[in-house]
Amino acid sequence: MPVIRITPQTLPAHVAIIMDGNGRWAEARGQQRAAGHRAGLEATRLAVRFFAEQGVDALTLFAFSSENWGRPQEEVEALFELFVSAIEAELPELVEGGIVLRFIGDRASFPSDLQSRMREAEQASAANDGMCLVVALGYGGRWDVMQAARRWVADGAAESEDPEGTFEDYLSTAGLPDVDLLIRTGGEHRISNFLLWQAAYAELLFIDTFWPDVTAEELKQGLAWYASRQRRFGRVMPREGGGHA
Ligand code: FPP
Repeated sequence: MPVIRITPQTLPAHVAIIMDGNGRWAEARGQQRAAGHRAGLEATRLAVRFFAEQGVDALTLFAFSSENWGRPQEEVEALFELFVSAIEAELPELVEGGIVLRFIGDRASFPSDLQSRMREAEQASAANDGMCLVVALGYGGRWDVMQAARRWVADGAAESEDPEGTFEDYLSTAGLPDVDLLIRTGGEHRISNFLLWQAAYAELLFIDTFWPDVTAEELKQGLAWYASRQRRFGRVMPREGGGHA
């Protein structure tokens, strides 16, 4: 097999990750699910550092879905506490590292301390110009399309010359490139209402590893796999040569 090199041309601009398998990781060790989420946070740190070093423009992480509200209250509360403490602990290093933090999702029902931390993090990192780290909290792809559609119609943007282009300005990811590479850990092969519009042409990489066990080597292999894909965006392109067109 030819060696596929990861170059600026073959590096995805936007990587999105469904960080799945925390609960099963914990259960396999006879631990509470919350312990799996804490271990998952370590993997999250590793992934943020890895993709920032590689030079991707945006990394979007699915940390809490619209559907996750249906989990036992104890687990939901443990997750919120983890998010608050993680933002507090990580913010200085993220800001120092030039990262821009952005949260997407319906945050209206979150505890007020979490909402405050999210706002502070966005404000503190807004002037940075490094990788955009997007944390999806209370996020659902259908929610995103619906909230965009309501405002798009209310603003009369549907009448514009480029309705599809203007619609994207109303999505929560406005200004970010489309997702190039979507990774899901934990062995399931689903999109689970993640970035439905934004991942329309994403390369999908499903790996069996539970999120807390993910390594930089595995992420690197993911980038190499992506670099070997030939993206056609629905068009016909020559097959020989490998890499991206
Ligand atoms: C899915 O695993 C994981 C979550 C719902 C939570 C993800 C949160 C983290 C990794 C912490 C990251 C924190 C920040 C601030 C980004 P699951 O519980 O569905 O696992 P299972 O499928 O094995 O049950």
